[in-house]
Amino acid sequence: MSRSLKITRQALWKHIHSLKDDGYNIVAVPHLGYRLISSPDRLFPQEVACSLNTFVLGKDIKYFETVSTTMDVALRLGMEGSPEGTIVLAETQTKGRGRLGRHWVSPKYKGIYLSVILRPKISPSRASLLTLLSAISVCEAIKELTLLEPKIKWPNDIILNNRKLGGILTELNGETDQVKFVVIGLGLNVNNDNKSLLNTAISLKEAKQEEVSRVDLLQEILRRIELNYRLFQKGEQKEIIEKWRAFNSTLGRRVRITSQQGQIEGAAVAIDDDGGLLVRKDSGIIEKIMCGDVLHCR
Ligand code: BTN
Repeated sequence: MSRSLKITRQALWKHIHSLKDDGYNIVAVPHLGYRLISSPDRLFPQEVACSLNTFVLGKDIKYFETVSTTMDVALRLGMEGSPEGTIVLAETQTKGRGRLGRHWVSPKYKGIYLSVILRPKISPSRASLLTLLSAISVCEAIKELTLLEPKIKWPNDIILNNRKLGGILTELNGETDQVKFVVIGLGLNVNNDNKSLLNTAISLKEAKQEEVSRVDLLQEILRRIELNYRLFQKGEQKEIIEKWRAFNSTLGRRVRITSQQGQIEGAAVAIDDDGGLLVRKDSGIIEKIMCGDVLHCR
């Protein structure tokens, strides 16, 4: 091994020990070298990049054991000119944030805490489609790898068995008519134990009764986001909305929506081409909602 790597035995030994410290289970095989028995489920860039099936997403990975929030790191990188597809990953966040100023609890090594930088040439009004597109991608990846059937509660909640599995936070930097870059944030409960979760939340481990590889899931999520983003860039938002409809759990329900404009209640009847939710109030008037907190009444 040391010969093919062109390093001394001593240097090789040091590398092996640092891998062991990172949680890799490696045994020495006399006269032969070392054997890798198992890898830890850590989101190390080398693990995520290995056999990652994307062209753009995840080509540049910033990884943190602990960070305040991956959103702030990605926003800063975006301003400094980091390319489209750069991702920021953390094993835990001390100030993870959700929509509407909420805190996102980010227990270490349990979830996926990801921010992705995208540079679409769009006006800010179309950015909410990116939230839908990301939510679809997460659901597709979960379905593919676990056979579970997650749903999307408009606009950004990933739901399983009527409990919250994850959420998307989209933040953008730009001018009134042109986005400079968008940061898509994803928080997903993967291997959280039941007792550490609120009773309104769920993890994939709880649903499957077994651990799920965060690396495999993350790779599939990135692949799906890239595919759906390509559709979006080709102007095929109809296809995105169609996919969203198939995963959504909001249409056809009575909803109460709280936003800065106040509260409205009615039937969620459709989603329009920009990803806005159309709500028919009891008066019969249809109102288009672009953001807000949605409660499914029945
Ligand atoms: C929500 O449901 O309100 C959205 C939650 C988004 C949480 C993720 S975790 C990774 C990224 N960093 C953050 O601080 N927030 C997003």
